[in-house]
Amino acid sequence: MSKLIVANWKCHPSNEETAKSLFRLSDRDNVVVCPPFVYIPLGREILKKASLGAQDSFWEEGSYTGEVSASQIKSVGARFAIIGHSERRAMGESDLDIKKKVSAAIKEGLTAIVCVGEPSSIKAEGEEATNDFISLQLSAIGEFFGSEKLIIAYEPVWAIGSGNPALPADAASKASFIRSLTGNKTKVLYGGSVSAAGISEFAEREEIDGFLIGGGSVNEEELTKMFDLLEM
Ligand code: PGA
Repeated sequence: MSKLIVANWKCHPSNEETAKSLFRLSDRDNVVVCPPFVYIPLGREILKKASLGAQDSFWEEGSYTGEVSASQIKSVGARFAIIGHSERRAMGESDLDIKKKVSAAIKEGLTAIVCVGEPSSIKAEGEEATNDFISLQLSAIGEFFGSEKLIIAYEPVWAIGSGNPALPADAASKASFIRSLTGNKTKVLYGGSVSAAGISEFAEREEIDGFLIGGGSVNEEELTKMFDLLEM
């Protein structure tokens, strides 16, 4: 079964040559590359098979210095936007902000990849607390449940960049839990320290439709191994 790979380059790389090389390596079917905004036009020139996404998307155009709107993102050829990544939530993004961003993105025809997931303090409280936490994050975007333009990425905060991914069985059960709220058609990705070492075990789980990959997506050796393992 083919999986969707969303490459979240985060604030990498710092030069065009590396970006070009990463785009070339990532140019495969079922891949969405989400580079920093500044590299989206470069990606548009290079990518033939993979799609382009942004790492955020603002809800309006106008006097908002530094923001980039959904229509601007679309105008340079991106079709996806990651919204509500935990790193942005940590910088102050609220559930209401996320709802407004998702609404504007979907209206513009972009597919919103919304990140949800619990921090370690909530995980420590147990499964019920974790599910309540995720439900609350999802309830903010409840009006978009059932939309084909909505993808959910389950990214436990403690797993992101830690080298300590969730157990595949736990990630699969969270994907099912998320779908029990959003509806069966919603694609659910797993993200958080996905690497070549563990990706096959996750890929065996049919509940998981794909992966949101940070660090591993800007490491050419690691990324090549993952594509090989997934036969992409
Ligand atoms: P990671 O990041 O793969 O480096 O853990 C995932 C993400 O934050 O999207």
